[in-house]
Amino acid sequence: MAPRRKKIYEGKAKILYEGPEPGTLVQYFKDDATAGNGAKKEVFEGKGVLNNRLSEFFMTGLNQIGVPTHFIRRLNMREQLVRQVEIIPLEVIVRNFAAGSMATRLGLTEGQQLPRPIVEFCYKDDRLGDPLVPEEYIIAFGWAAQQDLDDIVALALRVNDFLSGVMHGVGIKLVDFKIEVGRIWDGDFPRLVVADEISPDSCRLWDIETGRKLDKDVFRKDLGSLTEAYTEVARRLGVLPSNVTHRPKPTLIN
Ligand SMILES: Nc1ncnc2c1ncn2[C@@H]1O[C@H](COP(=O)(O)OP(=O)(O)OP(=O)(O)O)[C@@H](O)[C@H]1O
Ligand SMILES: [Mg+2]
Repeated sequence: MAPRRKKIYEGKAKILYEGPEPGTLVQYFKDDATAGNGAKKEVFEGKGVLNNRLSEFFMTGLNQIGVPTHFIRRLNMREQLVRQVEIIPLEVIVRNFAAGSMATRLGLTEGQQLPRPIVEFCYKDDRLGDPLVPEEYIIAFGWAAQQDLDDIVALALRVNDFLSGVMHGVGIKLVDFKIEVGRIWDGDFPRLVVADEISPDSCRLWDIETGRKLDKDVFRKDLGSLTEAYTEVARRLGVLPSNVTHRPKPTLIN
């Protein structure tokens, strides 16, 4: 941790610090996991390190294929330098297979393939539990303009194509994921970029062969070790830092 820096915001999974230059921020990845809007909480040693690495991996790949993101560079095991953006107050969700709240809402079987990738929006407000909102609301309340929404959908679908391909290459099915989008000003000219994080905290990832869950559902549904699942994703993608292999804590016997 870097106490010299001014803390700007502490969320459930990350802390934002003032960056070294104007227009930049440092994102610190914590080990905390929450689910059900903070109702369930646990600390998983090493999760922050893995998510920092994995988010770096995905954001760098996106930047390389011309999908703009806030990511500048990783600073250390738990921190990365990003461009400060105006966060659009939406969770942008892309779904390829039915799962989670969509499966519940529509009575679909978990894992059922959708006719095409579906993009949906939730209004980012923890007090309300990030409710699903139609485009009509977003535009009427001024959370984003119609043009922004069109651009966000296009951006989200490009992220989906990239992530689906990368995950498919290592035997993992991208069921769904969530991104946040931010606005950056180049002078008077606004640009939308992928912000926040892309990690197993914000995706549903299933092993293609076995169906094993390799994402935050492991924690939501108590299916075993979250760190082990994320380590497996990192290992397959070849982004596992050599010195953070998961080591269970010694147990005290008395
Ligand atoms: N580049 C960025 N510039 C400004 N804010 C950002 C940027 N990237 C992410 N954020 C914001 O930083 C916070 C990250 O913290 P964290 O993910 O822990 O929040 P959270 O507990 O999920 O809460 P919430 O997302 O509801 O604020 C989020 O509020 C996110 O919207
Ligand atoms: Mg968050």
